[in-house]
Parts: sequence; structure tokens; C-alpha cells
Amino acid sequence: MRLAVLKETKPGESRVAATPETVKKLIALGLDVTVQQGAGHASGMPDAEYEAAGATLAADAAAALEGAGIVFAVRAPEAPLPRGALLIGTLQADAGAAQAFADAGVDACAMELLPRITRAQSMDVLSSQANLAGYRAVVESAGAFDRGFPMLMTAAGTVPAANVFVMGAGVAGLQAIATARRLGGRVSATDVRPAAKEEIKSLGASFVGYEDEESKAAQTTGGYAKQLSAEFYAKQAEVVAAHIAKQDVVICTALVQGRRAPTLVTEAMVASMKPGSVIVDIAADAGGNCAMTRPGELHVTDNGVKILGYTNWPGRIPAAASALYSRNLLTFLSTFWDKEAKAPKLNPEDEIVEGVALTRGGAVVHKMFAPAA
Ligand code: NAI
Repeated sequence: MRLAVLKETKPGESRVAATPETVKKLIALGLDVTVQQGAGHASGMPDAEYEAAGATLAADAAAALEGAGIVFAVRAPEAPLPRGALLIGTLQADAGAAQAFADAGVDACAMELLPRITRAQSMDVLSSQANLAGYRAVVESAGAFDRGFPMLMTAAGTVPAANVFVMGAGVAGLQAIATARRLGGRVSATDVRPAAKEEIKSLGASFVGYEDEESKAAQTTGGYAKQLSAEFYAKQAEVVAAHIAKQDVVICTALVQGRRAPTLVTEAMVASMKPGSVIVDIAADAGGNCAMTRPGELHVTDNGVKILGYTNWPGRIPAAASALYSRNLLTFLSTFWDKEAKAPKLNPEDEIVEGVALTRGGAVVHKMFAPAA
């Protein structure tokens, strides 16, 4: 069976869904792997390394897809896929896109819908990518900040440590806390899920936040934050407003699954910050946590606050992001692999398959999109 790896077409998408390392392992499963020329280029992985790993190179997407039974991608491909192909990627599909996969006869697996269970951790693309995004956000904030993170005691005087506030302490936020601490920042963080408070403290940051009866139940069984009431958000904003005015760097990572990111930093809060302060909004892909974020842009406000609203933060650290993403996909495929048949065997009753499978045999099967739902 042939597996195709495409060059990503979305502007700014620098990642690739297989590396020379994972290509070798895919071939060891019994697959023929075809890689579209230039697919790994933006991640620092030249065509020659894919060839050396045993892949065949194809000049364009159509050639790469010819006869492919499996397609690995970061984003939903634009090129038409062969009927019957299994597509694995972060597809961000809505009901219409799911129906389009069904109509095209493509069995699509949306890896961003993977259940957050222990068995699935090594396939968890959201975690692997968020971790790197959290790291990268802090490093870029340090680059944009016109002072330093650590307290610097010099013969010419002392530079104070930066106050860094991390909003949202999930995978990205916890990595942001750890990175900011390593750089010497004075770090605080907030979240709404009760479990996050202990995790924040265990990383040596202080917890700043509002808690009440509602936030005690703020976590879904899937581990995500729930959408909370307007009253709760107003109380949270009061606590945050007083704190933000004293911060040098704010790293925004808060998300509510399936919704626009909550607005946690208002225009008034930005106006209260000192000139030269930096806000990094990793949530920009979902609209942003800061009201003044311009998704995709660096925006300097009238009071001199720099807001880094770039989208696709994992794509800003592409070699590492591609390496982890590729291993996530490889683990998924190997887990559901029939060694005798040398073909994928996705048991529809498996919790992981049920979580990610959008379509099967020309029909939409995912509970979020199935016509019956
Ligand atoms: P996420 O990316 O959906 O959200 C990021 C963070 O924003 C979350 O911690 C969320 O509570 C927080 N947030 C939402 N609304 C907020 C608000 N108004 N103010 C402040 N913070 C707010 O979540 P992520 O990072 O994907 O993971 C969420 C949880 O799932 C974590 O506890 C993580 O440890 C757990 N997890 C479990 C896995 C497993 O067991 N296999 C794998 C990955 C994550």
C-alpha cells in the first residue's frame, strides 16, 4: 500500500506530516512512501533525506497521490484525494467539510478530535504542538521585550526581573510557565479548572485567579475547560485587571474547545500596561484572548504595548513541531495496523477511532457531524 506525504499549501504552514525518521518506520510497516518534492523544506528536511530514508519523490501533489491508500497531512489537503484513501491530519472540519470527505469517498481522521485518554497520549497532536507553542511564545516574548527576563545585577546597577503572567495553564500554558521560569522571570498564572491551580504552583509560579462554586465544576470529563457564565468571567476580569497592570509580559493560551477563545484581556487592561510590555496571544488562531490582538500580526498599541498575534505558533518552531507531529501520526497508524494484511485496521468501536473518524465508506460517521446528530 502506498502512503503519500504532501507539501502543505496553507500560507505560512511550515510543518510536514512525516520526517525522514518516520518515513523509515512507515516503510518498515510494509508501506511504500511517496513524498511530494519540497514537503519538508520549510522544516529543514531536504528531499535528499527523504530519498535516503527510502521514500520516492513526486513532482507535485497529483503525482504523490496517484494510487495512494493513505495520506498524511498537517492540514486538510486542497488536491483531490483518491477514492477510498485514508486521510490523517488536523482537518478542522465542520459538518460541510465532513460531508465533502464522505462524498469524495475519503475516510478522514481528524487528529485534533483525539480523546484525551492515557492510551492516546503518544498520538496527541494537540498536546505535542501546544507544548512547543508554549515554549516558542515565551522565547519570542523575550525577544520582543526591551528589558530582560532575569534580574541582572551588574556594576552599573540592577535590572529587575520581568513579571510574566500566563493565562490558561493547559499544555501550552504549563510549558510557558516552565520556560519563563528558566529564563528567570517572576511568573504567575491563571486558569479556571481547579486542577490547574496545583499544576501552576508545582511549577513554581503563583496562582492568580477567581474561584467560586461554578469554577469547581469548570472541567469537562474530557479534561477541557467549560464555557462559564458571564458573571464568572466578569469576576475573573476584576481579579485579572488589577494584576495585569503590573505585568511586563502576558502569555495568552486560554481556549474553550469548539468555541471562540474567551476574551480575557480587554482594551482597558492593555491601556493599563506599561510601554514596552509584551502580550503574546497563542489563542490568536481561535480569535485571541486579547481584545486588541490582530490575528497574524504584530500590533503596537498607542501606549506602546507590543501584541504578538501570530497564528500557527507550532509552525514557528517547524523542525521540532514536524518531528513530534510526525511521530504522533506514525503511532496512530501503527496502533491501528494489521501486520498480516500490511494495511490499516481502524476498529470503529475503539474509543480513539470513534473520536477521530469523520467519515467511513462514503458516509459521515462522527457523532459531532453525522446527519442524525
Ligand atoms: P486547551 O488548549 O483547550 O485550553 C488551554 C487552557 O485554557 C486550559 O487549561 C483551560 O482550562 C484554560 N482556560 C479556558 N478558559 C479560561 C479562562 N477563562 N481563564 C483562564 N484559563 C482558561 O487545553 P489543553 O491545554 O489542550 O489541555 C487541557 C487539559 O487536558 C489539561 O489539564 C491537560 O493536562 C489535559 N490533557 C490530558 C491529556 C491526557 O490525559 N491524555 C492529554 C492532553 C491534555
